[in-house]
Amino acid sequence: MAEQKKIMRALAGETLDTPPIWMMRQAGRYLPEYKATRAQAGDFLSLCYNPELATEVTLQPIRRYGFDAAILFADILLLPQALGADLWFVTGEGPRLSTVTQQSDFAKLKGPTDVHEHLAPVYQTVRNLAAALPNETTLIGFAGAPWTVATYMIAGQGTPDQAPAHKLRVENPATFDALMDLITASTIEYLAMQIEAGAEVVKLFDSWAGSLKGDAFQKYSLEPAKKIITALKARHPNTPIIAFPREAGDNYIGFAKATGADCVAIDNSVSAEWAAANVQVDGCVQGNLASRHMVTGGQDLIDETRTIVKAFSKGPHIFNLGHGITPDADPKNVQLMIDTVRKTTTD
Ligand code: CP3
Repeated sequence: MAEQKKIMRALAGETLDTPPIWMMRQAGRYLPEYKATRAQAGDFLSLCYNPELATEVTLQPIRRYGFDAAILFADILLLPQALGADLWFVTGEGPRLSTVTQQSDFAKLKGPTDVHEHLAPVYQTVRNLAAALPNETTLIGFAGAPWTVATYMIAGQGTPDQAPAHKLRVENPATFDALMDLITASTIEYLAMQIEAGAEVVKLFDSWAGSLKGDAFQKYSLEPAKKIITALKARHPNTPIIAFPREAGDNYIGFAKATGADCVAIDNSVSAEWAAANVQVDGCVQGNLASRHMVTGGQDLIDETRTIVKAFSKGPHIFNLGHGITPDADPKNVQLMIDTVRKTTTD
């Protein structure tokens, strides 16, 4: 049998000498080759729905850097679009969607298994990647977690404090809960289909989990993650799942055990030492270098990368950033991070 891939070993709970590494948004605007392919596609959504070009941009950072994992090129907002929401991107600003603010908006959305027809090109990209990736590279599929997806569907755009979603959950819990249940059920269908198409791992992005506190965190971040993970494990027991309740703070503690996740991704608002003592005690963790090091580089990057590798060295760890790489990053700094993690930097 071929030796198991490093990411799969870490996700199974193995402590490796050198952590495997990949990077959130590794296919992105900091890479000239990404910008060229995106220009060829026309716009961002056309790129997401073009299996040939989406495969190409997914492979670009693997060719350039040899990351241990490739993440499917798509977006968490393709699912709301598949449910019937209008979606477009405004250059320099971000996503825009038709809003769900009352029962009559919710009633227009489709059902959980209706999403597959619209998402067929994404499944084709997964199949292409499963065939094209080097043997040692793990293919990660993904979806947004229900709370994060709901924040965009309710506000119709990104918001600094997710106030429109909080308002709906407090003032109209029946509509809010119905929306959460629909996103939860369709996310299970979407991720199961990605796995069937060849994704070896799936990741759930709850980018706005940090704005949920106390009981609301339990109810709208932890519980939906648990439902999705439980359903996926029933269908695909051998597919590891990474959960990313970003900026969860103390709520990172026990999250893997409570939800059944195989790995918890940690943002950089907590220290690696804290995360090792409080989260890695339960299993694999992923993270957590601040993205700004990809802009600033230098000895500061080397020192912080070493601190993180060392802090997590006594347990299973996948090295990553605490959030996505930004368009102003220097591709040379990505190489410096990888060399530092893989101990090929000598100074
Ligand atoms: O990580 C990867 O390389 C895989 C692809 C991926 C994208 N988006 C591509 C993308 C993934 C995993 C996502 C997840 C995503 N999308 C999240 C969760 C993770 C996070 O960053 O918190 C969220 C909240 C979104 C929604 C979204 N998509 C926003 C708010 C924006 C605009 C902001 C921005 O960076 O421009 C996007 C656009 C987007 N998604 C880009 C990429 C490469 C940039 C689009 C471009 O090329 O112009």
